[in-house]
Order: sequence, then C-alpha cells, then structure tokens
Amino acid sequence: MQDRETSQPSSGDSPPEETSAVVAETEYNGSTPYISVKSLWKVFGRNPERVLLPEYADKDKSFFQSEFGNVVGLQDVNFEVRKGETFVVMGLSGSGKSTLVRCLLRLIDPTTGEVIIDGEDITRMNDKELEAFRRAKIAMVFQHYGLLPHRNVLDNAAWGLEVQGVAKEERYERTRKVLALVGLAGWEDSYPRQLSGGMQQRVGLARALVVDTDILLMDEPFSGLDPLIRRQMQDELLNLQTELQKTIVFITHDLNEALKLGDHIAIMHDGEVAQIGSPEDIVLRPEDEYVGDFTQDVRLESVLTATKVMVAPKATVMGRQGPRAALHTIGESDGDVAWVVDSHAKYVGLLTISSAERALRSGVKRFDEAWDYVDCDYLPVSPTTTFDALIPIAMSSDYPIPVVSTENTLVGEVHRSALAEALAETSTVDQDYEANAAMNAANAVEN
Ligand SMILES: Nc1ncnc2c1ncn2[C@@H]1O[C@H](COP(=O)(O)OP(=O)(O)OP(=O)(O)O)[C@@H](O)[C@H]1O
Ligand SMILES: [Mg+2]
Repeated sequence: MQDRETSQPSSGDSPPEETSAVVAETEYNGSTPYISVKSLWKVFGRNPERVLLPEYADKDKSFFQSEFGNVVGLQDVNFEVRKGETFVVMGLSGSGKSTLVRCLLRLIDPTTGEVIIDGEDITRMNDKELEAFRRAKIAMVFQHYGLLPHRNVLDNAAWGLEVQGVAKEERYERTRKVLALVGLAGWEDSYPRQLSGGMQQRVGLARALVVDTDILLMDEPFSGLDPLIRRQMQDELLNLQTELQKTIVFITHDLNEALKLGDHIAIMHDGEVAQIGSPEDIVLRPEDEYVGDFTQDVRLESVLTATKVMVAPKATVMGRQGPRAALHTIGESDGDVAWVVDSHAKYVGLLTISSAERALRSGVKRFDEAWDYVDCDYLPVSPTTTFDALIPIAMSSDYPIPVVSTENTLVGEVHRSALAEALAETSTVDQDYEANAAMNAANAVEN
C-alpha cells in the first residue's frame, strides 16, 4: 500500500470538535450522493498551495512544472457517486486516476477540496477517525493483488477480519462463504504461487468483500489479466454486483471495460475530468474532442441497452387466470402474446394466442394448474442487456423479448423493430460538442 505523505500538514493535533465534519445531505437528482468530491486538487512538490493563488490563475500545468517543479496531479475534480452504483474513472496513464483513489482514501492528502462520504468530510478527519472510518466503510482491490506468499488462500482472504480481531472460527466461516462467492471453493488451502493470475485476483477480491464494507475501491484490478480471463472477471463482477449492490469506484484505462461496468463514467485527462456521463452519453454525445477521439471506434451495439428501447408490457396474465381472460387481454393489446406472471408480478413465461386457444378448447380453468400451455423456457433479459445480446435473441424469435428487474419482476418488453430503429437513429455520433454538453446536462437533471 502507498505510504501516507508526510509533507502535508497533519490534522492529528487539532481539537476534536473541529475535526469531524458532518455535512448536511444535499438532494441531487432526487437521490442523495453517497460519495461527493468537490473542487479536489492534488499538487505534488514543495508549497503546493501556491498553484491555487489568484496571481497564477491563468497559468497552466507546464508552467508550474518548469517554474517550481510542482506536478498538478488533480485539478478541480468534481463528481458524485450514488449508493449501489459502479462509478468508473477512466483515463490514460498519468491522467491522475491513482492519485484520485488515493485521495478518496486519504492515503495521500489532497491539497484542497472536499471528499464527503456518507455525509462525512474525510479531509477533515484526524488520523484516528480516518482509520476507523476506512475500516468501517471502504475496502480496496489493487492491480497487484498484494497477497502474502506464505499464507494460504483462506488466511490471505481472511486478513481484514483478522486485523479486526474477529475470532478464528467466525473469521474462517465468513471467509469460506466469500471464497465460494468468487468461485474459489476448494482452494482454501492452496498458496498464492499455486494460483493463476485470475485466481489470485479472485483472492484479492474476496479479501475486499470479506470485510463487508459499503464501498469498494478498485484500482485497475483486472489490468494484469489475459483478455479472456479479464472478460470473465468483468462478467463475474457484474453478477456479484447485482447481488451485493456495493458502491464501487472502479479505475481503468480500458474504455470497453469502462463502458461494460460503469453506471456512470468519468473520463480523466491530465488531472481534469473531461466528461461524466452514462456509457451512452459518453459514446453518443462526447462533450469535447478528446472524448470524441476516444470513443469514435466504439460499436453502438455494445453500449446501447434494453432500457433504451423497451416499452411497457402490453399484455400480462396472472397464473390464476384462465384462457378466456388471457384471450381478452391479448385481444385488447395490438400483439399476439401475453406474459404470464405470478401473484407477486414475477415473470413466469410466454403465452401465445394459439396456446391460449388450445387451453380454452381443452377446458383449462387457470394456467397455474396447466403450466404446459405457458412457455417457461422463453427467457427474459435485464434492462442492462446490451444490443449485442438482444439482437440474436430478437432474430431467433417471432415474439417480443420480456425484460425483468433483478427481482424477476416484469418491467417491459423489447420489439425487434425498436432495436432496428434505435440503431438507425444513433448510427452517427454527434460531434457538436457544445450541444452535447447541454443535452447531457439536461438529461442528468431529468434522471
Ligand atoms: N508522489 C508523486 N510525486 C510527484 N508526482 C506524482 C506523484 N504521484 C503521481 N504523480 C504524478 O501525477 C500524475 C498522475 O499520476 P497517477 O499515478 O495518478 O496516474 P494514473 O492515471 O494512475 O496512471 P497509470 O494508468 O499509469 O496508473 C502523473 O503526472 C504523475 O507523474
Ligand atoms: Mg494508476
């Protein structure tokens, strides 16, 4: 782990009433940000504060570097992260990503600015408060897994609990569960040298998950892995995340990884945030040339999701209803199928008009006593399923595609024609940067 910088003023000797700052929660876009970074600067070198003096307001980074030897690592960074989302920070080497994560944890102290996490400004905490806060709230996964070679998988993964003083039996029990979650059941007694890179990174992930903090900070966790293993790890993280709903700050220099994992993405350029937006915003509406150049080769099918094209379910039938009601419902809609749901609105399967007619002829009273008439193998997708996955499904079926939430509640349906229309509509990326910035700002307020 990176050493704490010693050149920065320490707040350890300040009186306690000044050190802990509870910041009033602000409403933003209808939900409170869980992490909020405001006007954050990090300047390396001697007298870093001078960079902020009004007399140098018109100077750029190269001036400070050549004149004073100060490196501007972060320049007025602002962003917000909602609870339960994956926020990706993406940028090329040297753009300031690691500096940013280190400031979020205060492994290094920012020169100025606020980092408010769950209502508390961590830049104002003293060392003791900070230590307690980190332990309770944040776990970290690094690119280099940092496993201890003489400890087996179980003890490596259990490390955080050991530090917390959790008794051996409980510690091992909890750790075994997490190891199973990341696909390492049966490897508890192995040593790091006996594992592949991907497996070692799973241990790193398990070690972060085992302490069960709300926030995961991940600094290029998959960068050292082969492309195939890397994709697998990304898929597994997405799967885990639907279950765990952690607040994740994920650092990467890979745009495709960012687009795949991020609910929101911040693109960093030379210590500044060039753009923040959804994957779709970043690809379809780049706000400057830098982002536009980055995203010009991205295939839209890999970014657009079911959310963009789904419409409300047109015909829904309860399991306790029978074919007469189903035929009526289908007749009222302009399609020729209905979705069958259980009494909790959970998706069960597809009912075609011809199956409903057969059921009627056979005297079926209710479908939950005659599931044969319902196609329960007709699988739903999620709102985040990309066009890449939707298109082959749409091509192989004559019916719409049902869309369900993580709780399997039916939330919509996707029609083949809508997919085609969306692709035609968005096939050219909009290069009017000012208009894009305005449009993204308007979208952000709407959402
Ligand atoms: N301790 C330090 N002293 C001086 N300059 C530093 C220090 N740490 C980072 N920098 C500078 O700050 C800038 C941002 O570095 P940082 O490590 O945050 O980049 P990064 O985006 O994480 O890059 P990478 O993808 O290579 O990990 C770089 O110009 C770097 O040289
Ligand atoms: Mg880095």
